Amino acid sequence: MGQSKYMSMVRLVATTLTCGVLILSGGSPPTLAQDAKAQSLIEKAFPHSNKCKRCHERVYEEWETSPLSKSIHSPAFRASLDAYLNSPAGKDKALCFRCHAPHVREFSNQAQLFVDQAKSGDPSLDGVACAQCHLIKQVDRAKHPPEPKYELGSKTLYGPYKDFVQNLAHQSMELGLFQKSDLCLNCHQSVPSATNLGKANDLLGNWDQSQAVKSGKECQSCHMPEQVGESANGEKKRKVANHTFPGRIGKLRQEAAKLDVQTKIDGEKTTVTVKVQSLVPHNLPTTHPAWAMVTLDLSVKGKNLRTVFTDSRVYGRTYADTKGQKTIFDFEAAKVLEDTVLKPEETRVETFTFPTPKDTRTFDVDVTLNYGAIAGPAPFLQRVEAESSKGSQDPVFQPIEIVKRSENIPVMK
Ligand code: HEC
Ligand code: HEC
Ligand code: HEC
Ligand code: HEC
Ligand code: HEC
Repeated sequence: MGQSKYMSMVRLVATTLTCGVLILSGGSPPTLAQDAKAQSLIEKAFPHSNKCKRCHERVYEEWETSPLSKSIHSPAFRASLDAYLNSPAGKDKALCFRCHAPHVREFSNQAQLFVDQAKSGDPSLDGVACAQCHLIKQVDRAKHPPEPKYELGSKTLYGPYKDFVQNLAHQSMELGLFQKSDLCLNCHQSVPSATNLGKANDLLGNWDQSQAVKSGKECQSCHMPEQVGESANGEKKRKVANHTFPGRIGKLRQEAAKLDVQTKIDGEKTTVTVKVQSLVPHNLPTTHPAWAMVTLDLSVKGKNLRTVFTDSRVYGRTYADTKGQKTIFDFEAAKVLEDTVLKPEETRVETFTFPTPKDTRTFDVDVTLNYGAIAGPAPFLQRVEAESSKGSQDPVFQPIEIVKRSENIPVMK
């Protein structure tokens, strides 16, 4: 009783102060009005993507279909954010948002607002949107992970064009950074772990030594492919960059790997040798979240297309926490237990041996490389499932096919 009276008094004080500087009263949760005010302050510095849509319809619509536009929406993100906030490391409330909604870097005192918005399942704050990239002036690669430097308040948006058309909404400036991998590295190179795992926990591996990168490719060459279109509504067509960020979704996936399958029958025993050639110039998969994995699945169908044998190999990374327990959360990771990711442009050879299918003239060998469905301890998966009922995002419970090879093998008599 006494406490609720105290709370309402604090609220009263806080609301009378909102016309001046916003003061967040200790202990009491901020009011809706305070949240709205904080959000408008944030969006003054980082204009909401809706503002850009008016003139950059094509770009906006592409970005809207990309995973980047949902970076604080997914059930898996909400469930793991919650696990993080309840862990000993969780005192730093802004941590996840430094990459998932990087404007938090300039508003660290508003971290709780970002948390509340993400938890709602239907945030109105942007995650990784237009201003969050186009206000970056520099990336400091000496830091681990690398850090972006934002230029706020100047109304200048940085981009790839020198010969931009002037407009009334913003100044434009060409910045070489926008055609370099550096821009992406501040979020994609590594994530903080319980102890500094250094190189052992790089998400991309030795990408800079790959053939693709040595031949001049940057992240954008593959993940923001060049096309021809309007950069701003009604302007002349020119070279533009695809903002759907193809990755797990999109055609780029078919360029991820080649499978070569050899089947050898040796009487009662059959051996299938699969050469998995990764064409990706970085680790496959990249290992954040830590449950991310790619699986090579073999299935053999015998008489009447009945499945007679299945087996698989897993490419991913497993971690232990400071107590030596296995964990699926990289923020708890203190040690890498096992690392089977496909290294940049690596060819891995796998062999599978099984009894030769009986009573049939032929059998089928299906080999598929998939992004695995989300995996982890049952309570976490239940939590992700529960979160899936909020909002409408895919809960990532289904594997995604990358490439598939099927062969029909005759059985010699
Ligand atoms: C501010 C941080 C940040 C920057 C900068 C950034 N990304 Fe990302 N990126 C993310 C986050 C967070 C996700 C995951 C979104 C989700 O699924 O929730 C993501 C997802 C992606 C995906 C989809 C991956 C998949 O699994 O399908 C691709 C591709 C991608 N980014 C490429 C890029 C490229 C290329 C650049 C540089 C031009 C870049 N990103 C810059 C944070 C960033
Ligand atoms: C250094 C940047 C960075 C930090 C810090 C970071 N993430 Fe991510 N996160 C990313 C990127 C980049 C991706 C996309 C990776 C990909 O698709 O390969 C991603 C993807 C994810 C995904 C899968 C996509 C989705 O939205 O469901 C989850 C879940 C996730 N992060 C949770 C977290 C949580 C929880 C934290 C805080 C403990 C966190 N991340 C901290 C950069 C970061
Ligand atoms: C993850 C970072 C990232 C995000 C998010 C992002 N962009 Fe870009 N954008 C880039 C990069 C990098 C380039 C240059 C690519 C190149 O030239 O290879 C670019 C290019 C552009 C261009 C010029 C080329 C073109 O395709 O028209 C415009 C305009 C643009 N972005 C607007 C936007 C708008 C509007 C949004 C939000 C709807 C947005 N961007 C979201 C990174 C980003
Ligand atoms: C009033 C219309 C208008 C609005 C609103 C607008 N832009 Fe633009 N923008 C343009 C025009 C016109 C160009 C030039 C296009 C060209 O040269 O073909 C442009 C160019 C750009 C470029 C390329 C700059 C360069 O030098 O490479 C970027 C990046 C960009 N806008 C981002 C944004 C973002 C982010 C927003 C929202 C915060 C936004 N724009 C809002 C009209 C607008
Ligand atoms: C030569 C083309 C190429 C270049 C260059 C490239 N990638 Fe990829 N990337 C791929 C392919 C192919 C895949 C796998 C299939 C897919 O997801 O589309 C992939 C997958 C990804 C994924 C999502 C899959 C996962 O395992 O989580 C992310 C995130 C990503 N790349 C980020 C980057 C970043 C950041 C850079 C720059 C340092 C980069 N890529 C450079 C081709 C490329």
